[in-house]
Amino acid sequence: MIVLTTTIIVSWNLIIAPSHGWVASLPRRICVSHFKVHPRLSLSKETQQQQQHHRQQHREPDNRFGNKAYWDESYRNSLGNILDDDCGNGQHNTHDPSTGTFSWYCGWKDELEPFFAELVPPGINPSVLVPGIGNDACIRDMFDAGYRRLTAFDYAPAGVECARRMLGPERLRLMEDLRVADARSLPYRDASYDAVLDKGTLDSIYLSGGKNKELSRMHLSMAITELARVVKVGGIVFCVTAACVDEVQRSFDACNDTNGRWRQIRDGTLYVTEDGYTSNNVDATILVWERIG
Ligand SMILES: *[C@@H]1O[C@H](CO)[C@@H](O)[C@H](O)[C@H]1NC(C)=O
Repeated sequence: MIVLTTTIIVSWNLIIAPSHGWVASLPRRICVSHFKVHPRLSLSKETQQQQQHHRQQHREPDNRFGNKAYWDESYRNSLGNILDDDCGNGQHNTHDPSTGTFSWYCGWKDELEPFFAELVPPGINPSVLVPGIGNDACIRDMFDAGYRRLTAFDYAPAGVECARRMLGPERLRLMEDLRVADARSLPYRDASYDAVLDKGTLDSIYLSGGKNKELSRMHLSMAITELARVVKVGGIVFCVTAACVDEVQRSFDACNDTNGRWRQIRDGTLYVTEDGYTSNNVDATILVWERIG
């Protein structure tokens, strides 16, 4: 994981916005949105194509990420670095060697928050399920932003241990549940959550099939069926994905009508929040479905 982090952080990405004639150079790491743009800023078709191409280049699957032993070992290695009850001090958007935490694809503040909170405001005290929590500091920051009714799981026991240390006893006491579980067969009741927040867990489930695409699709479809099952009518599945956007899309379309009826509300194309955060500058894609029946 450290190798991945390094490659993500050290290279630089040039984002060109010709309509305003400025050039901004941003760290090339996977994240939903680093910066605010004016809502009316539109990128030329050519720039969009460049960005699309660029995203595809960085989407090569790495099969290690579908391997439970890999995760268990990787989390075990981070365990020693995670400080007990580390409350952090602000953002941990990437790998933070001082605390052993890491945020997959994006951090919370100014990155995931504007997109998630718009759909699931903390004020409604929503129950949120987080698959594959591991040492993702984004989830801790989300808790601190007011999402208290959190249920999280990881299929690697060391991942759950990482989460335990990262969250600390106080948050653990306040959140609803944290345990070892398999996304393909969840221990939760039907229709019990207002939202599922997947950050790359479906990606690693898909990659668990290795070169066997049929197996990959089967695992993914089992997981998506389970996530769909546990969401209430009116609730959402919010998915930040990079490795298998099309497969997640296909699999979700296929489960429509078997576990509820679903309406897609974010399809990975450019989205701008009311506050002007744009989903355009991404290496991961946001897909969101709302359960309508
Ligand atoms: C699910 O099916 C309904 C019709 O039964 C359709 O309106 C809706 O768009 C479908 N949703 C998805 C995500 O495919």
